[in-house]
Amino acid sequence: MPIPERGRPWPDIAAEMETARARDLDWRHGRHGAYVWYASDELEHVLREAFGMFFVENGLGIRAFPSLARMEADVLESVADLLGGGPGTPGIFTSGGTESIFLAAYAMREWARATRPAIECPAILAPRSAHPALDKAAHYLGLRVRRIPVGPDYRADPAAIRAALDADTIGLYASAPAYSLGVIDPIEELAAVARDHGLWLHVDACVGGILGPFVRELGYPVPPFAFELDGVTSVSADLHKSGFAAKPASTLLFRSEAHREFARYTFDDWPSGTYTSLTFTGTRPGGAIAAAWAAFQFLGREGYRQLAAASMRARAAIESGLRARIPGLTIHGQPPLYAFAWAVPGVSMGRVAAAMAREGWVAGRTTAPDGIHVMATPIHEPFAAEYAETAARAVETARSAPATDTARATYT
Ligand SMILES: Cc1ncc(COP(=O)(O)O)c(C=O)c1O
Repeated sequence: MPIPERGRPWPDIAAEMETARARDLDWRHGRHGAYVWYASDELEHVLREAFGMFFVENGLGIRAFPSLARMEADVLESVADLLGGGPGTPGIFTSGGTESIFLAAYAMREWARATRPAIECPAILAPRSAHPALDKAAHYLGLRVRRIPVGPDYRADPAAIRAALDADTIGLYASAPAYSLGVIDPIEELAAVARDHGLWLHVDACVGGILGPFVRELGYPVPPFAFELDGVTSVSADLHKSGFAAKPASTLLFRSEAHREFARYTFDDWPSGTYTSLTFTGTRPGGAIAAAWAAFQFLGREGYRQLAAASMRARAAIESGLRARIPGLTIHGQPPLYAFAWAVPGVSMGRVAAAMAREGWVAGRTTAPDGIHVMATPIHEPFAAEYAETAARAVETARSAPATDTARATYT
């Protein structure tokens, strides 16, 4: 519609917006399988205040806003510390997992151009479970992604990846955890392949990067997946997912300053001198940097441990609730964090998802294998029993539903 000729008062506008959102996903009651990471009303307040304080400032002009420069550097150092790096582990504050992965693929390509210029069709080897952001990046960058079948545990298969290497391979890709089934790839073994063959290894820890280390601190068996492993070159970790910060915010960390430099874009053939940038985006919301910094300060390590504990309790409650109500239920693989997928052999999970959707639950889908995806966060904990009851009813409905009644697996 055209912009209205005359403006109208904010209360009117706000009322219309409130009405418009009435049919949106009811995430406050844990009805979501994706999209929202919510810790608490207290943290929401802090994030809104911090974002609001720096609402107008532009992260592109980091020289003009030393406050943003400092907060950005602090956040990147904190993430480096979480991920087994140190003060010499440089990073980039980005707008999300997709931008972090794009920049990792770009840096990998530029590094390969500089170090192995003879390669004409550079390729990245990834397990089939890799997030589509990798292929999106490769599509834009003129790279090839070769997806290699996963092993019987649904994790990357290092032997198959080793066997698939060829003269065009410039790097490897692994997830911690993979979105669909929540499994963590055998990154230690993939790091060895990368070391042996002089390849760049990117770890997509967009989901596990911030909270995973705290789950480990609580005593759960979470394998090392980042810079503790010699052979890992870059790691992406989203602040707006398990960092519970405001969108849009993610980080991309590099083994060394020299590796990060490959993510730089510089141009000076225009009338305003040298333009140089480490991000894909130009203008960046100062609020997102401020909110991420404030989240770290407000929660502290103690707060993140509590969120990790609540997320793992939510996962356990959902899983035990499902098992108690649905005989024969399977969890795919051995997901060590708060993401997992479940299925009932012989039952179409697309039909289950459709039946859950009719009761107001947005259930994520997996297709290989067929399943329903769960990303447990603290807000899911009090609704775990309701989830399991709805799911159990949906399984019964699905057993008798017509074959056409299927929720397609889409993630948009
Ligand atoms: C493992 C993984 N990597 C990357 C992404 C992309 O992140 P974003 O949606 O923030 O761009 C996601 C999103 O869910 C993800 O789960």
